[in-house]
Amino acid sequence: MKINENFQNLKDSYLFSTIAKKTKGQDVIRLGIGDVTLPLAPSVITALNKAVLEMKDQATFKGYGEEQGYLFLRQAILDYYLEKEVTLTVDEIFVSDGAKSDLGNILDLFSADNTVLIPDPVYPVYVDTNLMAGRKIVYLDGNIDNNFLPLPDDGIKADIIYLCSPNNPTGAVYDKSGLKTWVDYALANDAVILFDSAYEIFVRDEELPTSIYQIDGAKKCAIEFCSLSKTAGFTGTRCGYTVVPRELNRGGFILNDLWLRRQTTKFNGVPYIVQRGAEAVFTSDGLKEIKANINRYRDNAETITKTLSQLGIWYTGGTNAPYIWLKCPGQMTSWEFFDYLLEKEGIVGTPGSGFGANGEGFFRLSAFGNKEDTIKAMEKFKKIF
Ligand code: MLT
Repeated sequence: MKINENFQNLKDSYLFSTIAKKTKGQDVIRLGIGDVTLPLAPSVITALNKAVLEMKDQATFKGYGEEQGYLFLRQAILDYYLEKEVTLTVDEIFVSDGAKSDLGNILDLFSADNTVLIPDPVYPVYVDTNLMAGRKIVYLDGNIDNNFLPLPDDGIKADIIYLCSPNNPTGAVYDKSGLKTWVDYALANDAVILFDSAYEIFVRDEELPTSIYQIDGAKKCAIEFCSLSKTAGFTGTRCGYTVVPRELNRGGFILNDLWLRRQTTKFNGVPYIVQRGAEAVFTSDGLKEIKANINRYRDNAETITKTLSQLGIWYTGGTNAPYIWLKCPGQMTSWEFFDYLLEKEGIVGTPGSGFGANGEGFFRLSAFGNKEDTIKAMEKFKKIF
């Protein structure tokens, strides 16, 4: 018996587990992990309750569900995409328990000897899941000079490319021309883009894309991952969706067929009750309610960005994203600043270096905290800086 020795290449614990351990049981202001604080929308609660009652009756009880997710939910997601001027078919949509699982699981489709291109800094799941599989990773520098929106380097031949826009952790968002450059690169290199769109609802600038399929050619090279976690407060309820276009094929395989084969083998779907709650998110009342919550998180983001501007601290993000990415004051490293804020002020953020080498010297604050805590944290910032 041999274990997967690639695990040796991982850090001892996942970034957010390390932070959770460090701060467990402490009475602190939590602006670290992007966990939502506002409750589920009323329309979602009504739908969940109704679905629970359906499970009580033989006539409406549900056992195993439809393999890709119930048609009622996939249709609602398809209609949501139509609003973005993206036309899909229901068999291109796969309901999941969230973007994180699918971003890791999708790797079952790809050979271990593919080269993976990952912008740095970035959501650590992309790196860790590929390290576990022993894949070669090439990093692409995100930095202040390129506004943390790196573009492809024609000298690098990559097979799998991760993009996250609006970006976690920097809050930066690719414009259409940036994404077009990536789509052209992927098509020229026969590569596949894994596009993490979990924060799309935070985009307010109408010129910015909220789906990679708003870019010509993307259906031939991209898989898109979305989640209701940040959009509709489902971090604890669990529901997301992944789009695998039928046009996407490589090496004689249609990736949509492979993903269906993978999912039907290893995944039994999201509970019916949760899918009914998710369906309610996409109704006109549901969308109104979740957008009201998003506006409250935007207010938090504004509280943070206004304070940082007043204090002359460099930052990016917060306008079209729920994360604010700032430069640690006084040349502190990311973890030094983390410890300083935690020990002196009882504020938890996320050290930038946890998102990659290029995150060293930076720090991420989340706008998902509650309003009072966010205001309190910024008052403390004003006192210390
Ligand atoms: C984050 O804080 O980066 C996210 O909450 C992590 C996640 O969505 O898994």
